[in-house]
Amino acid sequence: MDDLVQNWRAVDDYLVDTLVDDDDTLRQARAASHAAGLPPIEVAPNQGAFLALLVRLVSGRRVLEVGTLGGYSTIWLGRAVGPTGRVVTLEVDPHHAEVARGNLERAGLGAVAQVVLGPAVDSLDALIAAQPEPFDLVFIDADKQNNARYLAAALRLTRPGSAIVIDNVVRRGAVVDPDSADPDVQGTRAVLDLVGAEPRLTATALQTVGSKGWDGFVLALVRA
Ligand code: SAH
Ligand code: DHB
Ligand code: MG
Repeated sequence: MDDLVQNWRAVDDYLVDTLVDDDDTLRQARAASHAAGLPPIEVAPNQGAFLALLVRLVSGRRVLEVGTLGGYSTIWLGRAVGPTGRVVTLEVDPHHAEVARGNLERAGLGAVAQVVLGPAVDSLDALIAAQPEPFDLVFIDADKQNNARYLAAALRLTRPGSAIVIDNVVRRGAVVDPDSADPDVQGTRAVLDLVGAEPRLTATALQTVGSKGWDGFVLALVRA
């Protein structure tokens, strides 16, 4: 397994070097987050680039992110919506939110990305009550126990043609254990059941390997 992980990492490094513009701003954001003690659980550069491509594929102008951390994925999303677009990103940890605001400011995205501090369930309730324009893409990447609630909120905040991405649904294969005592696994299994049963969504999930290990994500399209 260790050999495999080394290979995955080497291939990711090669792919990122070859295809992905992991520029100084992105590198600095990662470095600042790690220096501030944040866990290194941001998306890999090629995953960030993938999210940005998805935003462009749905011609996304408005993106909602659940789980900001240091704003690394937010930078990818913020660049993809363009200077007149908007990213609303929800974070419960004040330290994470502060680090993210600094990183977003340095990335020139202070006016594009809004970090909303508080439990995402509450922030989503407030957003729904405010009846904003629909979001074109929702990236769900926070506490996995609440993923079912985040999906329900995402369905109320999107439109036909919007995309919903749910991160970390494989977790080294742990997801296949129905008796898992890990609440993250149970949260993931619950949201996968909901996605599968939801007539408003057409969805799939893909496993990923790379610099962040073995994981995967759901991609869902809100149906017309
Ligand atoms: N999207 C980020 C990584 C997010 S890590 C990136 O790829 O760069 C998950 C984040 O979700 C952490 O910062 C954590 O503090 C936050 N989080 C955990 N529980 C939360 C909750 N209930 N509400 C909002 N954010 C939460
Ligand atoms: C964890 C959370 C994430 O969002 C992620 O991408 C990787 C790991 C975690 O909680 O360990
Ligand atoms: Mg994640």
